[in-house]
Amino acid sequence: MRAVWFEGREAMMIDQRELPHRIAVVGFRGHEEVAEAIRNMTTRGAPSIGAAAAYGMCLAALNKKDLDDAARTIKAARPTANDLFYAVDRMLADLRNGIDPIKAADGYAQEIVDKCTRIGEYGNALIKDGDIIMTHCNAGALATVDVGTALAPIRKAWGDGKRIFVYASETRPRLQGMQLTAWELSQEGIPHSIIADGASGHFMRKGVNMIITGADRIVANGDFANKIGTYEKAVIAKELKIPFYVAAPVSTFDLSTKNGDDIEIEERSENEVTMIGNVRIAPAGSKALNPSFDVTPAKYVTGFITENGILKPNEIHRMRTK
Ligand code: MRU
Repeated sequence: MRAVWFEGREAMMIDQRELPHRIAVVGFRGHEEVAEAIRNMTTRGAPSIGAAAAYGMCLAALNKKDLDDAARTIKAARPTANDLFYAVDRMLADLRNGIDPIKAADGYAQEIVDKCTRIGEYGNALIKDGDIIMTHCNAGALATVDVGTALAPIRKAWGDGKRIFVYASETRPRLQGMQLTAWELSQEGIPHSIIADGASGHFMRKGVNMIITGADRIVANGDFANKIGTYEKAVIAKELKIPFYVAAPVSTFDLSTKNGDDIEIEERSENEVTMIGNVRIAPAGSKALNPSFDVTPAKYVTGFITENGILKPNEIHRMRTK
């Protein structure tokens, strides 16, 4: 089963808000509903958001809606992940070139899976037997239609018989590391422990061979946005000389933005911080701040693992994103 796909006249998704308790599948018939599913994180993770957006544009075309309007609605769903904008623009071009809407969107989703497979192969070459690897948030199959970005090398290394161990930080405020990454690792029997976000430095000092995270947007100077909490990990990793890799397809690179400070960081509801499920855990009088992502400067990145190979931050400006 994939995280996002098309069936009959519906864009189908695993409802990631229900995991790890149950696998619930939901279907949507209109692009507005798909935009809402991206906004409320029924589906999430930059490449899966891109695939959902592609199917949203497909539905708009099948339902004979104005494509520019649909593109605006879908792009407004979330601001940070570059794949959302990349996918909508790709679909607009394909639809205007007369490509069948379902073929175009299915092709886009399949492309993501193929790219993630290649990311897995390049990343696996960096992993040695016995390595202890740390990751953050969820950059697995759920976040990328299938296979994963940060989890792709880990899966491949395990599949090749390397005895690895993974620390998955729980990832506040929505706990994607605990609820999604740990679930994916358990499904495959990959040895791992969930750790609190605040325990990352402690475990890095005890011994971590490498960190691999995903990314939501990587800009021209090599700065990148990823789930809140990534920046601290990167800074500590540099202090401890632990290699820090970022795995992402070319669709996550935004070379039109020069500097990480110019990336729009999504601010989400404070309820995601003050509540767990439907239960408020914060004092009644306290307010919370909830930036979804942080920006990690390029100087902390050892390399970007892409479908075209591994790049150093200062090599990004030469890459082709189209
Ligand atoms: O807010 P989310 O869950 O959509 O955030 C995206 C992520 O899962 C992470 O930031 C991830 O590391 C990059 S997307 C593969």
